[in-house]
Amino acid sequence: MRAVILKKQGGVENFEMSTVPIPEIKPDEVLIKTRAISINPADAIVRENENVSWIFGDKRPLILGWDVSGEVVAVGSDVQQYKKGDEVFGVIRHPGIGRTYAEYVAAPAADIALKPANVTHQQAAAATLAALTVLQPMRKVGVKKGDRVLITAAGGGVGHFAVQLAKYYGAYVIALASGAKKDFVMSLGADEFIDYQSQSFEKELHNIDLVVHAVRTEGHLLRSLEVIKKGGTLISLWSHITEEERQAALGKGVNAFYNSIQCSGDDMKVVATLLENGALRPYVSKEYTLDEIPAAHLEIEKGHTQGKIVVNI
Ligand SMILES: NC(=O)c1ccc[n+]([C@@H]2O[C@H](COP(=O)([O-])OP(=O)(O)OC[C@H]3O[C@@H](n4cnc5c(N)ncnc54)[C@H](OP(=O)(O)O)[C@@H]3O)[C@@H](O)[C@H]2O)c1
Repeated sequence: MRAVILKKQGGVENFEMSTVPIPEIKPDEVLIKTRAISINPADAIVRENENVSWIFGDKRPLILGWDVSGEVVAVGSDVQQYKKGDEVFGVIRHPGIGRTYAEYVAAPAADIALKPANVTHQQAAAATLAALTVLQPMRKVGVKKGDRVLITAAGGGVGHFAVQLAKYYGAYVIALASGAKKDFVMSLGADEFIDYQSQSFEKELHNIDLVVHAVRTEGHLLRSLEVIKKGGTLISLWSHITEEERQAALGKGVNAFYNSIQCSGDDMKVVATLLENGALRPYVSKEYTLDEIPAAHLEIEKGHTQGKIVVNI
């Protein structure tokens, strides 16, 4: 099969299109013929950053990627719930190595769900890691009707799902993004918009119940804490809470925690239902081919993605 392998960690020049054997499946896995995958900022981080090479284990060649949507073409002996021909999607083996930059992917049955018929493989691939990233902590927090929720980085992959999910739970949603993304985030259902390039959100907002914090800028988390009311919550998606941030949160009576996405077929089934009933509408702004993975990485690295970028296979 064709697969994009990473010869060594570093720049995108280390990617190489290669022909490798179709993966063998374990008893609890299915073999997926890949139709689409999506790219996350973390894909570029693991490509480049040697501090995270521990996730690769010893399996070679190195094939990156976690998000996949495709068709089941073989089923392991222990797998009951899927059969050949099923269309499925999911996040594979995160934070290990999913190996989805390839024509076939061996996927644990526990990581996937059936793809709803009303979404394309491109939309389904988009609604995997980014969707679980917000679904899991928002369910933990228990977002409810009338909550005032600030979504930072609202126009990106994670943020555009966060806006829709918070609306689905009945919250009043304030979206923080650059002015160029205003129409986009308002079209997702946001009630209010703040342009981070011309406004200081911490001067305009107060009494916020929940901030979904997904901005990498240093000091931004402390600014986010300023707008949250006593007893409110901050979900950090970019970084662990530092001691200074923990003390600031304690001082304000705010529950601030870092949350990392966990693979879960059960949660993917929740995403599937939300896609089916139209509560989540994945937005794909750019599509690439497998040969164009280096370009897709250069694009995600810019940090200004609108919705998701997807690779067709
Ligand atoms: N904890 C986890 O499990 C987990 C999982 C996935 C992602 N993440 C993290 O979540 C973050 C978002 O991921 P993503 O996939 O959504 O990335 P993405 O698709 O690349 O989107 C990033 C967005 O950030 C916006 N942005 C940049 N600077 C901003 C600022 N100062 N204020 C507000 N918005 C700003 C950009 O929009 P503009 O063009 O408007 O600037 C862009 O739309 C990343 O830091 C990622 O590492 C964490």
